[in-house]
Amino acid sequence: TFRRPLIAANWKMNGNRELVQATATMLQSIDCPHEILICPPVIFLADFPKSTKYCLGAQNTSSEKAGPFTGEISADMIRAVGAEYVILGHSERRSLYGETDATVLQKAQQAIAAGVTPIICFGETLSERQQEKTMWVLAQHLDAVYAAHPDLLARSVIAYEPVWAIGTGLTATPEQAQQVHAFIRQHLARIDQQAAAQVRILYGGSVNAENWQTLFSQPDIDGALVGGASLKPAEFAAICQMA
Ligand code: G3H
Repeated sequence: TFRRPLIAANWKMNGNRELVQATATMLQSIDCPHEILICPPVIFLADFPKSTKYCLGAQNTSSEKAGPFTGEISADMIRAVGAEYVILGHSERRSLYGETDATVLQKAQQAIAAGVTPIICFGETLSERQQEKTMWVLAQHLDAVYAAHPDLLARSVIAYEPVWAIGTGLTATPEQAQQVHAFIRQHLARIDQQAAAQVRILYGGSVNAENWQTLFSQPDIDGALVGGASLKPAEFAAICQMA
């Protein structure tokens, strides 16, 4: 099964118009067979020049379609300013803003209805890993989202992000990451074998230009969700160009 690699940048609450320009210019100048995605703060989406070299996404969206929800931004709205993807259920949203699998599911349904592909994030904490609960925790989350709505599987991207590797400089070893990616795919195969073979599973957690090559060489790692290193255009471009 061919799965086109997806290299995604998650700027989190960082960046400015200068970074938009620098990133766009850098990506415009490279040749890369993979799909490249930039998820800046939504306020910058419209500042990106249209390009065939990259696509755009948001980092969150509302669980509601429209209405009196002060401060929220709908999936239709992000679509209207160019977002083709939206990151949902990032560990920061789960731990700091109380998002649960139920919220993520609602948001994913709004996204799909608006024509936006959700990138749904899952991962274990350090203590869950130390207690050898990683696979169990992931199975619970995957079931909460996909067993309830099997149709979502063919319409979403998954990001595996071990919480202990996010922003810490610690990465999962390629073997550790591959083991979890393979587990996720196997587990999902029980829901829909064909969709599980086709779904792209991204790795996230301290990916940089030094460690990406060996992670990417793993058979079930179909791309990256890059935080800190995506704020450096030259380093992000280098990551995008690795085969
Ligand atoms: O979404 C990105 C991840 O949270 C990884 O962030 O590359 O800064 O560790 P990081």
